[in-house]
Amino acid sequence: MVTIHIEKVRKTFGEVVATDDVNMDLQDGKLSTLLGPSGCGKTTLLRLIAGFYEPDYGRIYFDDLDVTDIPPNKRNTGMCFQNYALWPHMTVFDNIAYGLKMKRVDGMKYTQAAIKRRVKDALELVRMQGLGDRTPHQLSGGQQQRVALARALVIEPDVLLLDEPLSNLDAKLRNEMREEILRIQGELGITTVYVTHDQVEALSISDMVAVMEKGYIQQYGPPREIYAKPQTLFVADFIGKCTFFDGIIHSIGQDYLTVELTDGQKVSGRTPIEGYPFEEGESVRCAVRPEDLFLESTDPKNNEISGDVFQVVYIGSNVEVFFHVGETSAVALLSPDVKVSEGEKIELYAPRSDVMILPLGGVDALRKIPGHPLYSQD
Ligand SMILES: Nc1ncnc2c1ncn2[C@@H]1O[C@H](COP(=O)(O)OP(=O)(O)O)[C@@H](O)[C@H]1O
Ligand SMILES: [Mg+2]
Repeated sequence: MVTIHIEKVRKTFGEVVATDDVNMDLQDGKLSTLLGPSGCGKTTLLRLIAGFYEPDYGRIYFDDLDVTDIPPNKRNTGMCFQNYALWPHMTVFDNIAYGLKMKRVDGMKYTQAAIKRRVKDALELVRMQGLGDRTPHQLSGGQQQRVALARALVIEPDVLLLDEPLSNLDAKLRNEMREEILRIQGELGITTVYVTHDQVEALSISDMVAVMEKGYIQQYGPPREIYAKPQTLFVADFIGKCTFFDGIIHSIGQDYLTVELTDGQKVSGRTPIEGYPFEEGESVRCAVRPEDLFLESTDPKNNEISGDVFQVVYIGSNVEVFFHVGETSAVALLSPDVKVSEGEKIELYAPRSDVMILPLGGVDALRKIPGHPLYSQD
C-alpha cells in the first residue's frame, strides 16, 4: 500500500483550469474522498493520480517514488468508473481476467491457473461467486458495479480509484454498495480515492474528505472537522445547511469576534479558521447551522436572533422553521412540539461558540493564512 503525495499540481485544458494548486497527502490504507459539484475538477484529479493525464505543473509521488512521468499501466492502480465500462460481449470471468492477462510481474505473465484462482478470489470478494459465465447484460446494475470493482481489484493494486461508482444505482442499491465498498476497502486496507458529488455519501464513508470548488481544494480533513469547522463559505454552504448573515467585524476579542449585521444587530461568534488575520471593519459572513438555534437560552451571553416565521415544515423527528431576519431567510431545526406557525414572530438563541464567522473570498482568503498550503506572500 502507498501514501499518495500531491505537490502543487495544476492541470489545464486550453483556457480551462481544471484543477490548480493541489497539495495533499492521501494516506496509506485510508479512504479519501474528492467531493464537490459537477465540473469542480474531481475526475481530472483522479485521472492525474491514475496517470491518464500529465500535470502542467507539480509532482505526484506514491510514497517516495515520483510517478509523475510513469504511464498509468505501470502505476499499479485499479480504477472503477461511473458507467462500469464492462465489455458487453465478454463474460464476467473474462472481464475480470482481462487486466491480469495484460499484467506482467517482473516481466512474467500470470499462468492460466493463477488467473483462474485470482478471478475466483475477486468474485468471492465482491460476493459474485458462481456468476463468472454470465455476460454483463444478464446482470443487474448493482451486480455490474460489483464486477467492475472486482476487475479493478483483481490486479491487487496499490491504489484503488473510484469515480462516482454508485451514481447509476437507485437509492437502496447505492446504500448497499456503499457498505460493500467500505467492507472491501477495510478488508484489503487499500489506499482508496473516491470521487462523489454527494456530501452524505462522502461524510459517511470517508476517513478524509477534500472539498473542491472550481479546481481548488477548499478544505481537506476528517468528515467531522469539515462539518464542524468549515474553512470557507463554500464548504459551510455545501456541507449540511447553514443560514448566512452578512456583516462587518465590529470588534475582535480574545476568544470571540463581534459582527455588526446589516440591520445593526450585533452577533458574537468564533471563527473556525485558525490564524486568519481578521481586521475591524472587514466584511464577513456569520454562518449558523439550523441545529444550533434554540428556543431557550441557558447563557446570558447567547446571541438573540428574532425573525418572522414564513414556513414550518414537519419532518418527523423535528420541524424546520423558516423565518426572515431582515432580508435574510433563516432556518432552525426545532422539536416537533414547538408551538409556532406561519406569520408569527419567533425569538431564538445561538450560543457564541456555534456562530461561525467566515471571511469573504473563498480560496483567496485562505492564501492570507501563514502556514496554510495555499499561503502566498503577495
Ligand atoms: N478532456 C477535457 N478537455 C477539456 N476540458 C475538460 C476535459 N476534462 C475536463 N475538462 C474541464 O475541466 C473542468 C473539470 O472537469 P472534471 O474534472 O471532469 O470535473 P468533475 O469530475 O468534478 O465534474 C470542467 O470545466 C471540464 O469541462
Ligand atoms: Mg467527474
